[in-house]
Amino acid sequence: MNVLEFKARKQAGRKLSMVTCYDFWSAQILAESDVDTLLVGDSLAMVMHGFDSTVHADVDLMALHIRAVARGAPNKFIVGDMPFLSARKGLVPTMDAVQALMQAGASAVKIEGEAGQVELIAHVVESGVPVVGHLGLTPQSVHALGGHKVQARDDAAARVLLESSRKLADAGCCALVLECVPSAVAHSITAALEIPTIGIGAGPHTDGQVLVLQDMLGMNPNFKPKFLRHYANGFEMISGAVNEFHADTCGGCFPSAAESYR
Ligand code: KIV
Repeated sequence: MNVLEFKARKQAGRKLSMVTCYDFWSAQILAESDVDTLLVGDSLAMVMHGFDSTVHADVDLMALHIRAVARGAPNKFIVGDMPFLSARKGLVPTMDAVQALMQAGASAVKIEGEAGQVELIAHVVESGVPVVGHLGLTPQSVHALGGHKVQARDDAAARVLLESSRKLADAGCCALVLECVPSAVAHSITAALEIPTIGIGAGPHTDGQVLVLQDMLGMNPNFKPKFLRHYANGFEMISGAVNEFHADTCGGCFPSAAESYR
């Protein structure tokens, strides 16, 4: 996978898959998988560090995780999230952040939102850095949006979203993440753009889908938004294995002779 394949895949009518990845050991597993792209999302602030929103991620934290993922999956196209406000402090700080993420091993950066940053995104693209846009529910704006809610539910908001999507495509984005928008809205945006849309909670008509790895693996069985499919019972699998180890240890049947040095 390289950046040129995004548009080619759309033209060929072939869907794109993306999952989040935050660390070396899961990157090694994903490196051997068929998934097309990895996203070092700022959701790592919540999933890996227990914060209540992505607002708590910063450039150093993102770069640390991108370095680990790049070491584990050097063969994959890695998208690194520009964290909260890192693209909103002017050109030089933005480019410093882009540099940090790319030098950490990202193949592209993802920037949330459109308003006030189209020129900046065009500049990043002109500088030789692929940019993935992100519209709909943009979690870094959770405080302004009043929570993690489905966006563009009415016609006016859907029109604004379509217009923003066009602006990001014109600015040179190689793909666009659409998060938590009605299916029909994502469908019409997908039909209007030459670049692929990658949906999360945006229905089946986008050009690709992205999920948070831990969510799709069922690591938190209580987190089950409508759009999520659990592909494994990760929580049960891990706690079951650890309990088995505990029982074997306490019962004196681990380690066996074969598992011991002579
Ligand atoms: O940070 C993230 O995981 C994301 C996805 C939800 C698209 O941006």
